[in-house]
Amino acid sequence: TTKTHIGNFKFENCFMNAAGVYCYDRNELEQVINSAAGTFVTKTATLQSRPGNPEPRYHDTALGSINSMGLPNLGFDYYLDYLLELQKTHPDRTFFFSLVGMSTEDTHALLKKVQESDFNGITELNLSCPNVPGKPQIAYDLETTEKLLTDIFSYFKKPLGVKLPPYFDIVHFDQAAAVFNKFPLSFINCVNSIGNGLVIEDESVVIKPKNGFGGIGGEYIKPTALANVHAFYKRLNPSIKIIGTGGVLTGQDAFEHILCGASMVQIGTTLHKEGPAAFERITNELKAIMDKKGYKTIEDFRGKLKYL
Ligand code: DHB
Repeated sequence: TTKTHIGNFKFENCFMNAAGVYCYDRNELEQVINSAAGTFVTKTATLQSRPGNPEPRYHDTALGSINSMGLPNLGFDYYLDYLLELQKTHPDRTFFFSLVGMSTEDTHALLKKVQESDFNGITELNLSCPNVPGKPQIAYDLETTEKLLTDIFSYFKKPLGVKLPPYFDIVHFDQAAAVFNKFPLSFINCVNSIGNGLVIEDESVVIKPKNGFGGIGGEYIKPTALANVHAFYKRLNPSIKIIGTGGVLTGQDAFEHILCGASMVQIGTTLHKEGPAAFERITNELKAIMDKKGYKTIEDFRGKLKYL
């Protein structure tokens, strides 16, 4: 079985979409619900709906993808309404609500609305959008991040996790983990896209926003994703679970994320390329690896990466 849990929330399968892919509206989210995935996360919602950046803003490459979507979304109320409806129709399931404000004030307004609502799922605060011109990736500024989380946990009492950008320096892993360990986070999600890469075809960039700069996903980023999952697994309080995201094309890739410590695994670029049938394929590939090795549950090997 590939069952898993985050805190007291149980999931029939450890796989889900990565925020941004197959989660813009009810139609896309329903396709994930009806796939082999264990749950979904919504597109990151802002207070007001947003059209996002000019197109083309997403491009597949042989080894992955580049995007500069700019947080196109239908607005907080749309996703909350749908999530509340699902609590009635699917009372046995838990879904993730991704959020971030366009300002600190907006982020608090959003989280206060969640706190005051009947939403009983898990909230993912996106601290790592690389694509809104002029707005830095919040989690690269640990002082701002610590202040933000301090303020949030003064009123927010529901399960909360954060979506992180990749870090690239051991000292940054140490510093970031020390901040996250101060808070009752349910999980961290490693990693968002590697921000501000540049893909060129012939003599041109391939996406319009920011003269072609955008977040990189897919095969390119698996080593970075695995390093972040494992670095935080070794540093965080065990009550803070880890969602592994980045470069999952196959069951083997998922196996490696779990070996590094991931309790759930998200699929972004591959889901965009293949559609929701990817969940069944990758789940079956992971189960075949587990069978061959004699592992009955993901807890049998989670975090048990071997060193030389
Ligand atoms: C977008 C991209 C991201 O990687 C992210 O975390 C949030 C938003 C976007 O451009 O929409």
